[in-house]
Amino acid sequence: MCGIFGYVGKVDVGQTLVTGIRRLEYRGYDSWGVAIGGDDGLTLFRRVGRVSQVDEPFKLAAAKSWGGIAHTRWATHGEPAERNAHPHMDGAARFAIVHNGIIENHAVLRDRLRAQGCVFQGETDSEVIVHLIASLYDGRDPRAAFVGALRLLRGAYAVAMICADAPGTIFIARDSSPIVIGRADGCAVVASDPCAIVPFTRDGIYLADGEVCALREDGYRIWNLKDEPVEGVVQKLAYDLESVERGTFKHFMLKEIYEQPRTIRDAMRGRLARGSGTTRVDGLGLTEADIRRIRSIRILGCGTSWHAGLVGRYLIEEMARIPTVVEYAAEFRYAARVLEPDTLVIALSQSGETADTLGALREAKRLGATVVGLCNVVGSGIARECGRGLYLRSGPEIGVASTKAFTSQLVVLALLALHFGRVRGMSLADGVRFLDALEALPDQAEQILGNTDAIAEMGRLVAGHRNALYVGRLYEYPLALEGALKLKEISYIHAEGLPAAELKHGPIALVDKDMPVVTLAAQTGAFEKMKSNIEEIRARGGRILAVCREGSEDLRSMAERVICIPPTLDPFVPILGALPLQLMAYYAAVERGCDVDRPRNLAKSVTVE
Ligand code: AGP
Ligand code: GLU
Repeated sequence: MCGIFGYVGKVDVGQTLVTGIRRLEYRGYDSWGVAIGGDDGLTLFRRVGRVSQVDEPFKLAAAKSWGGIAHTRWATHGEPAERNAHPHMDGAARFAIVHNGIIENHAVLRDRLRAQGCVFQGETDSEVIVHLIASLYDGRDPRAAFVGALRLLRGAYAVAMICADAPGTIFIARDSSPIVIGRADGCAVVASDPCAIVPFTRDGIYLADGEVCALREDGYRIWNLKDEPVEGVVQKLAYDLESVERGTFKHFMLKEIYEQPRTIRDAMRGRLARGSGTTRVDGLGLTEADIRRIRSIRILGCGTSWHAGLVGRYLIEEMARIPTVVEYAAEFRYAARVLEPDTLVIALSQSGETADTLGALREAKRLGATVVGLCNVVGSGIARECGRGLYLRSGPEIGVASTKAFTSQLVVLALLALHFGRVRGMSLADGVRFLDALEALPDQAEQILGNTDAIAEMGRLVAGHRNALYVGRLYEYPLALEGALKLKEISYIHAEGLPAAELKHGPIALVDKDMPVVTLAAQTGAFEKMKSNIEEIRARGGRILAVCREGSEDLRSMAERVICIPPTLDPFVPILGALPLQLMAYYAAVERGCDVDRPRNLAKSVTVE
């Protein structure tokens, strides 16, 4: 996600654009830029990093400008370099665009435009938009070129465009990514988020998917993609900046938990190849021959990423039948590890800057392994060190406790495992079966988040205890570890995750009436065994808090509290099962008055050993 801001008016255009885009920096801050229109055409200014100040030549141009557009970037395609910063311009500097979202068919469009002689400056998916507009422009109607380009795009976008031949107008369009317009005395504004509109006006219009707007100082017009006029609905905009940054959520962690239907969808966007029952993971830079040659896989990570790696092991061994070992990065780095030839190493990291993981992957490279990175932050140290991999695309994760990045890691690992499996013998039917289940996940996640009262109540119940156990089998064993970590790190309750079958080999000595035991029993393959484990716990007076699949009514007589999640294939249970565990930990922490977004002693990115 990124920030878009546009302004048409006469008050200090340059400073107004910089101030406006600075209000949106929480949405992403890899790079920023502004483009303005004036008598001499369009002028562009772009920089890597946080929003700062424009230079003198730009200030001079801005003093004579009618307005412009600005952008602060959260990179999804192309590292955070100046050439990839928005706004993007066409070769003739006639058009400038800023984009929020992902253009799935950017590669096809880029090839087509290159064949027509277009010269691209960078590697972003967004840059294809401006060259497409320029290629369709008849010299008279920039809106027609804009709409013509939009019709060729596949994916998610909020786009703002200015044209040197159309002074005083900002063209805007939306499909899936938010964009708001507003008008005040002597000016008009457009932004990704109302927080940049409210300093001008509290009345705004959210464009709907498929709508196109021409915004001018003295008014606006809106059409749908069939070119029919649309009446925008004016509504009161949220007011205070801090609350708007978190939206209506009390904490960033809660906001990010609720973003997961979208982030799970974005992690898959453009990466499912239904026709051939497989996935597109070109970013790994591995040919089918390379994939067939892999003899073992080593997954490196820390904390939540290590838990995601454990799920990845089950996914890869089940789908691709490749022996896989998961290592704490720091342990791998300093132990005298042996890597057999043809080992693929996967580095997992949300921040892409974790020192232990970066050090471990460098050691893996020294040992001769091929290394790929699955990170959230484009152009981060781990991503650069690997040089190839898949991005999570979950947007900035502000809460210290990882939530949406974890489920996106599981999705991306599933895409990788499915691809490897189909290269190494998985049937088309099985591939399609897995794809069907993957595609259902965003709506199923939405369903879980639509009814959270019982989860909140379970969190408040746990909040009254000093200890808790989380138990699960197979795919739900790593989930038990992750659920325990969530509770530990934000509510400071001591929690331990373990394989359910291990309980009887010692830890069951801890079970009594003061020990809540979160039992994860949503898989079909482990359900009967989990019921036996639950009976063992009940026999010792433990408090059973069960997470199971819809329809497991017999558990209701065995557990004190039951949370049901929609049915999915066992390999994808952790993706849905993570949501109630994240929320449970959240409500426990709130009940205990903890600082949810900034838990004591922790940091979001552990860049030290
Ligand atoms: C997870 O909630 C914690 N914030 C922590 O364990 C984190 O997962 C770990 O530090 C790894 O971070 P990374 O994914 O950015 O490498
Ligand atoms: N996909 C575009 C890019 O990587 C836009 C990302 C965003 O929404 O910030 O530049």
